[in-house]
Amino acid sequence: MDSIRIVGGKRLVGAVPISGAKNAALPILAASLLADGNHVFRNVPNLRDVHTMTRLLDRLGARARYSDGCVQVELAGAIDPTAPYDLVKQMRASVLVLGPLVARCGRAVVSLPGGCAIGARPIDQHLKGLSAMGADVELRHGYVEVTVPGGRLRGADIRLDFPTHTGTENLMCAAALARGRTTLTNCAREPEVEELAHVLNKMGARIEGAGTSVISIEGVDSLHPIEHAIIPDRVEAGTFMVVAAATAGDLLLRGIAFEPLQAVIAKLREAGVGIEREDDGIRVVGSHVIVPTDVITQPHPGFPTDMQAQFMMLMCLAKGTSRITETVFENRFMHVSELNRMGADIQVNGRTATVRGVEKLQGAEVMATDLRASASLVVAGLVAEGTTYVRRVYHLDRGYEHIEKKLVQLGAQIERVPGDA
Ligand code: EPU
Repeated sequence: MDSIRIVGGKRLVGAVPISGAKNAALPILAASLLADGNHVFRNVPNLRDVHTMTRLLDRLGARARYSDGCVQVELAGAIDPTAPYDLVKQMRASVLVLGPLVARCGRAVVSLPGGCAIGARPIDQHLKGLSAMGADVELRHGYVEVTVPGGRLRGADIRLDFPTHTGTENLMCAAALARGRTTLTNCAREPEVEELAHVLNKMGARIEGAGTSVISIEGVDSLHPIEHAIIPDRVEAGTFMVVAAATAGDLLLRGIAFEPLQAVIAKLREAGVGIEREDDGIRVVGSHVIVPTDVITQPHPGFPTDMQAQFMMLMCLAKGTSRITETVFENRFMHVSELNRMGADIQVNGRTATVRGVEKLQGAEVMATDLRASASLVVAGLVAEGTTYVRRVYHLDRGYEHIEKKLVQLGAQIERVPGDA
């Protein structure tokens, strides 16, 4: 498996284009199952997870092709509504086909995703919503089998116990073709949920309230295919903000808006980082003094769990002690032991990590089993003294498009090393 080799210590300067958002592209690609015809999606990032989703769509009976930032999905005729374990185990987000399949076919058989590196991650809320809409749900041999008597879901009032992100997306897709009105309460308010609602409405759905905690969906009889460009990735942008902050650099993040990053920007400013709107993006200027800053992760609009590892890495360099509390996932601290191997001073007690700032980090061989943890190790490598090897880049490739190429253009000394070197 490839590694990333980084020689730390460079100040990164320049402009970086922000790619399309993985977590917007995945539900949108899954939602294409709701309408026959030819869909065209642009600004789709070239990521392993995107390719897993196109393979899954193919397996279901669609024809999905990725080429140069564009995915074409052709749907005509029969769909086999079975999402097999071999694909779901590679990517939990495969579960996003559940809502569209049940809505389209009146039936779906989807492998249970199981736990992953960051927690148990059940899908009970997705299933509770589908049951409320009239589906029968059974668990058999590791698969969840959902059948709708009569073939069509009916609208329902559903209150989620937790504002689950992909759960809200699955239920929105399911309700789009249901008979009657569905009201989802305590929904996820992430920008990607709003974007999916926008896409579904473009396809002919009638959805209101996405981006707030109450979404209402008036079911329609059919949807039509569309052309659409995916929004920029706020987590990639947030990660580059931390790159600028950690290297005391000066970066222009092209194409990203302020609004989806408010919570991250507020915390980085508290930490002493200069962040300004520009006509074509956001400029981030790091300072040599990083102020210790506490963070608690929350569902949007709170501080995103997907930025916790990168922010913690920055706090390793702060002049003092910070506390980082993870409330969304129960086990999202895999980066801690690796950062400590690089000379950081982090102690975890339950859901809170206490980070004592150190003078400098040292290069080391590290690896992580989660995408964002891997990103935090790459940033750590950029500031560490000496050489860092980040192993298992597989995880990084799931969520960061051309990360080493983008960093090289900003002045980093970083390269991909093939095989086990
Ligand atoms: N949860 C339940 N029951 C459910 C659903 C969720 O208990 O039915 C719990 C989960 O176990 C977890 C919490 O609720 O503790 C939050 O999970 P959520 O469902 O909101 O997360 P997700 O939809 O599985 C998406 C993103 C994640 C991101 C989270 C939180 C996609 C494809 N994935 O996951 O992205 O961390 O929301 O914002 O959109 C990443 O990109 O690195 C990533 C992990």
